[in-house]
Amino acid sequence: MQLCALVDLERGFIGRDVYFDEAVYRAELERVFAKCWLVVGHESQLAAPNDFFTQYMGEDPVLVTRDVAGQIRVFLNSCTHRGMKICREEAGNARAFECPYHGWTFDTSGRLAAVPHELAAYGANFQRESRALIEAPKVESCAGFIFASWDTDVVPLRTYLGDLRWYLELMAARQLGRLEVLPGQQRYKVAGNWKVAAENFAGDNYHTTHTHASAIITGALPPILGTGPDHTVSFPYGHGTQLIPDPGTKFSAELAWAKTLGPEAVEYLEALRFKLVRVGTEAQSELFGLGVSNIFPHFSFNDFSVFHASTLIWWHPRGANAMEVWQSLTYDSEAPRALREYVLELPTGEQAVAGFFGQDDVENIEQVTAASRGVVSRRAPFDYTMGLGTPPRTDSRLPGQVYPSITEQNQRNFYSYWLSCMNGDAGRG
Ligand code: FES
Ligand SMILES: [Fe+2]
Repeated sequence: MQLCALVDLERGFIGRDVYFDEAVYRAELERVFAKCWLVVGHESQLAAPNDFFTQYMGEDPVLVTRDVAGQIRVFLNSCTHRGMKICREEAGNARAFECPYHGWTFDTSGRLAAVPHELAAYGANFQRESRALIEAPKVESCAGFIFASWDTDVVPLRTYLGDLRWYLELMAARQLGRLEVLPGQQRYKVAGNWKVAAENFAGDNYHTTHTHASAIITGALPPILGTGPDHTVSFPYGHGTQLIPDPGTKFSAELAWAKTLGPEAVEYLEALRFKLVRVGTEAQSELFGLGVSNIFPHFSFNDFSVFHASTLIWWHPRGANAMEVWQSLTYDSEAPRALREYVLELPTGEQAVAGFFGQDDVENIEQVTAASRGVVSRRAPFDYTMGLGTPPRTDSRLPGQVYPSITEQNQRNFYSYWLSCMNGDAGRG
């Protein structure tokens, strides 16, 4: 498969086989998902030693733990004996994981701690040390988000994230307590390629007012959206954000919203503003939401306002035309209790399995797939020409390359790095 011929970013066209070819899919599991830094979760999910949660990296199930010494570790969730999934819980606290098949038992540092009938079955020279759980060699955090990679030569996380770090740090700082991933997840299957969803979150603000028109007409849109100018920001390594507000333009809308919620909300907003002025840059102290983003390859999040829980989304690949969507909510651990109930309710009507935005987007993804997988339709490339040749604006307040609100720049940026990964010439540390 000639990927360079399929992904023509100079002219802005991408062949549909990128989404439908099984060989492309198998290759990207190896060259993207088993190579890049992937977000696996957040430190708030591992508050105490022996806390754990389960996750996926591509199609590989993983077990993420905080060991007794406090170190965060990421293991393949597959027994080194004969492959059984050793942990099938979503999350919890456990000193050890006993494999359901034959009972090999591993502790939270991956060590094989017990083997049933060890002497009789294997003799005196059995080496437990060489049978520890397979561990991701690279695990690092940024602003509380835990990243892991299977590639020992992956670029440093700081390099990978670049200026996106500034935005993640702002999201972490804009809490009176700390950003906390709330228990429970929505999980659903979508008949479409993971890239159709990830590139949408990286930069497709073009669809917002059209696809989501019913949400806008019925007032299901978060009140803070559409209240001022916003920007699309592009970063190296394929990351993108959209709907980044112009610094300083949204505070009055936040305040107006707070007043409808009562004095506790106004007090909370003022306290947050005071904190941001102390800890952030001038622009950071004036941004109360980050819009919609995708961290390459497949981790998206939205962050609209201090009165709106943020949604974290993983577009887990499950085949060229299949994905499993996992999504969680986050909120400030110290937000007033009355406020929490309100803000947690909002996202369920929006980017959620039964929400306006979630259903609208899934319909697009599945119908793009249905209308594109035929013999003739696969001959016609997708059109990514919008904003081609438009140079980034310089904006000293916002790190990254700043573009107009409506553009396909971030989608081209996403596929540019995807192509580097697929060709094996992506940056390595
Ligand atoms: S597969 Fe786990 S103990 Fe045999
Ligand atoms: Fe959407």
